[in-house]
Amino acid sequence: MLELFNRTFGDDSDARVFFAPGRVNLIGEHTDYNGGHVFPCALTIGTYAAVRVRNDRKLRFYSDNFADKGIIELSLDDLTNRPENNWTNYCLGVIWALAQKGYELKSGFDFVCMGNIPNGSGLSSSASLEVLTGYAIKCLYGFDCDNITLALIGQLAENKFVGLNCGIMDQFAIAMGKRDNAIFLDTATLKYEYVPIKLDGIKIVIGNTNKKRGLGDSKYNERRTECETAIEELQKQVKIASLGELDNETFEQYKAAIADEIRLKRARHAVSENCRTIQAVEALNAGKLDEFGLLMNASHSSLDKDYEVTGKELNALVEAAWKQEGVIGARMTGAGFGGCTVSLVKEESVDAFIKNVGAEYLEKIGYAADFYVVDIGDGPSEIEAEVMEVEGCEHHHHHHELLQKVSLEMPDDEELADLAELFKCFGDPTRMKILFVLFEHEMCVCDIAEAVNMTQSAVSHQLKVLKQAKLISNRREGKSIIYMLADEHVSSIIAYGREHIEEK
Ligand code: GLA
Repeated sequence: MLELFNRTFGDDSDARVFFAPGRVNLIGEHTDYNGGHVFPCALTIGTYAAVRVRNDRKLRFYSDNFADKGIIELSLDDLTNRPENNWTNYCLGVIWALAQKGYELKSGFDFVCMGNIPNGSGLSSSASLEVLTGYAIKCLYGFDCDNITLALIGQLAENKFVGLNCGIMDQFAIAMGKRDNAIFLDTATLKYEYVPIKLDGIKIVIGNTNKKRGLGDSKYNERRTECETAIEELQKQVKIASLGELDNETFEQYKAAIADEIRLKRARHAVSENCRTIQAVEALNAGKLDEFGLLMNASHSSLDKDYEVTGKELNALVEAAWKQEGVIGARMTGAGFGGCTVSLVKEESVDAFIKNVGAEYLEKIGYAADFYVVDIGDGPSEIEAEVMEVEGCEHHHHHHELLQKVSLEMPDDEELADLAELFKCFGDPTRMKILFVLFEHEMCVCDIAEAVNMTQSAVSHQLKVLKQAKLISNRREGKSIIYMLADEHVSSIIAYGREHIEEK
């Protein structure tokens, strides 16, 4: 990241690096603006930024994911949502929302970012960017605000600046994420509980429909209005503040108050989905994973039939998933209208699952889906180890062949020495004892995004212990991920990484 900062703005002194995850919701969909429960978790994939405070009022932004937009230069004196500001509207929205809450920036900053959440896939790349911006600002300007406040600020930015009337789930899941835990959140009160997700021998597999986003946003706001109208109608009969206060029986008792068939279906989903979510968490806590899976399936059917936010792409992926061996449960996740599905799949069935579901989807829809096997990660953090990209190194081109070669096998001693030489341009050579390289092609089922994610979790596990380790390269388009480590740790990391990859 610092290398990207350097390349974009000339030098990286005083720049600091931050991360915020993406999220996946396991169950509890379209309940978060209805006062119901949700059950999302943060992922190990997410968005990275390197940021440095300026001493004037300028704001300069660059994203590696939108490189064609170049550097976007704005000012603290003009916090306005404009189409040409493109992706930076999410960041501007956060600056604006912070100011609304009394956290006003007196000077601007330079900001570069890149992310490995597929954009527009329903894994919350935008909420990730919002929380990332808020978190970086809080750290850099010394604002005293906690992560729940940052989540609320992200939501305010989205609602009032960007114009999507979303609930609190995404920003909350991202700001409050905890490794290996999902968050059982009551959106009416913001009371929450971490629930350990111990999925022995079971993987979370995301399927991306790759459907281009169309009218999603306006349909989202439409659903929200339908629910608001339904609640007004119900309030004439029963004293409630939100649909989340009703159970299925009480809803049946009063539903005649809703004058329109469509609104009745929408409200029925909001009520039944909230009940399913509460039940699903109970099932999980009781170790009844099969029951959890069945509730996921029922959630999808309700989102299809009553809420009507699935569409043929999500249905194709989920219906194909239901037929596979080793599937505990599968449903759409996020807002719907395209985006992603989430499935719980027995580890030994993951390869066949991806192959079969992928083939059936291609056959039905005419283009391919993507799959990611994901891990549950932590909320936002500052990254102390430097993260740099190989591309920025001026020696890179001379060593291109070497890099290609070592991306096929573990390098031998001579190649390691050459690589060490190559990476001297990244810092203090005396600290760089050895390099460790993990390779995408060793992993049978995954694409590059997944490989990055997978190897990152294998190594980041160890990196926690290894403050002296450096992540040299994490090239999404390339094939290798290269770490430099103190040599006493190398063999344990190789063993750990290999084992982790073989499991896949
Ligand atoms: C989007 C919104 C969330 C939530 C989900 C649907 O992700 O941002 O607030 O409403 O859709 O559950």
